[in-house]
Amino acid sequence: MASLLRGVLLPFFLSSILLLNHSVRGDNDEEDTLLQGLNDYRASLNLTALTKVDNAGCLADEIADQFKNQPCTNTTGANTVPGTEPQFANYPKLLTKCHLNVSATRDGVILPACVPNLVPSLVLSNFTKSQYSDYLNDTKFTGVGIGSEDDWIVVVLSTNTPEGSFTPSIGENANAASFPNIHMTYRFLLLLMASIFLL
Ligand SMILES: *[C@@H]1O[C@H](CO)[C@@H](O)[C@H](O)[C@H]1NC(C)=O
Ligand SMILES: *[C@@H]1O[C@H](CO)[C@@H](O)[C@H](O)[C@H]1NC(C)=O
Ligand SMILES: *[C@@H]1O[C@H](CO)[C@@H](O)[C@H](O)[C@H]1NC(C)=O
Ligand SMILES: *[C@@H]1O[C@H](CO)[C@@H](O)[C@H](O)[C@H]1NC(C)=O
Ligand SMILES: *[C@@H]1O[C@H](CO)[C@@H](O)[C@H](O)[C@H]1NC(C)=O
Repeated sequence: MASLLRGVLLPFFLSSILLLNHSVRGDNDEEDTLLQGLNDYRASLNLTALTKVDNAGCLADEIADQFKNQPCTNTTGANTVPGTEPQFANYPKLLTKCHLNVSATRDGVILPACVPNLVPSLVLSNFTKSQYSDYLNDTKFTGVGIGSEDDWIVVVLSTNTPEGSFTPSIGENANAASFPNIHMTYRFLLLLMASIFLL
């Protein structure tokens, strides 16, 4: 019985751990490459590098999720005609999900781009060589969050003023902080169980 458990369950636990690690690293490569590219662009203009802001990253992920089923056209993403940006009726819900209050995001900007297969060089030029460059060029933006889904990649820029800082709403702080802890605990439990089966 013990060996049966070990034979069946151990591989299961080990693969869960591998899968978890994989999904954590997963599709962040495009995002890291883009961040590096945006900061190289900023450096070439003698601007400070953008620093990662967790809650802005959360919002970028949620927005990318809203876009993901839309195909790329010559009027979507970086090609959007100013003033015709899509509005999401559930935007307040997305903010809540990311522990954000609209008053801390007002000065930020959301820049979605659609690039088939997220080819890195095209992704970067969709930001630096489009109408978006005016934002990337702006000293008022200091923070960044990036999220991607399918062919969509979304950059959220934040400021260091209260109206654009993307700091979590008061009272939501506790929740925001405890989320990664739950995740870590879960992984720790899996590791613990796996090592018990190894004994
Ligand atoms: C950046 O700063 C360097 C040295 O301070 C200067 O030579 C260069 O012209 C500046 N570049 C831009 C784009 O302002
Ligand atoms: C977008 O593409 C369509 C046809 O594919 C074309 O008729 C239209 O002029 C294009 N619009 C722009 C803004 O390039
Ligand atoms: C957002 O913050 C403002 C001021 O800090 C507060 O008055 C308002 O109730 C908050 N809104 C939500 C939805 O939490
Ligand atoms: C943005 O990406 C599209 C692919 O969806 C590409 O055709 C276009 O040339 C890119 N635009 C810029 C300014 O790089
Ligand atoms: C950057 O900003 C300056 C002045 O704000 C502007 O003249 C310039 O065209 C911008 N550069 C790009 C690449 O948008």
